[in-house]
Amino acid sequence: MRAPIRSVAIAAIAVAAGCASEVETGRASYTDLCAGCHGAGGQGNGPGARGLTVPPSDLTLIAAQNAGTFPRVEVMAKIDGYAKGEPHHGAMPVFWPLLEGRMVLVPTGDGILTPTPEPLVALAAYLESIQRQPRAAPVLSLKQVGPQ
Ligand code: HEC
Repeated sequence: MRAPIRSVAIAAIAVAAGCASEVETGRASYTDLCAGCHGAGGQGNGPGARGLTVPPSDLTLIAAQNAGTFPRVEVMAKIDGYAKGEPHHGAMPVFWPLLEGRMVLVPTGDGILTPTPEPLVALAAYLESIQRQPRAAPVLSLKQVGPQ
């Protein structure tokens, strides 16, 4: 039993570091399952967004909307909920591939390590990698309407 436990621990450390291959794996899941609505770049403008009563969220602003910190655990919990059938505003895509595969231990606060499916962890790492600052649009538009 020793070797498997050690390999799980190493996987968890790799998760914490957000290694590049994990982000690549997450990107592939994102492209397959999410880009249709949330857009190739995550800004909520995929072709599937048309016709939805609630627009898909801009997934690149999650950190900006959370005082600059990407709430990785909350995001994973939310996607996990969708995968288990919680309503995604009329959108009910099949997310089950995210819940398959190896489990890795993820720190979820208070020193607790929660076994989490690796594809879900990878997807969260990818989403974290595409976070950006909102554009400073108000300053630009003030200049544009000012005297010539
Ligand atoms: C069929 C369209 C559709 C697909 C496919 C889709 N989403 Fe969404 N998503 C939405 C809509 C619409 C919302 C906004 C309303 C809501 O919060 O449910 C949303 C909201 C979210 C939110 C909440 C953001 C916030 O600010 O709270 C997250 C996170 C999210 N989606 C992640 C994903 C991920 C990850 C995938 C792929 C595994 C995915 N979505 C696939 C339509 C979609």
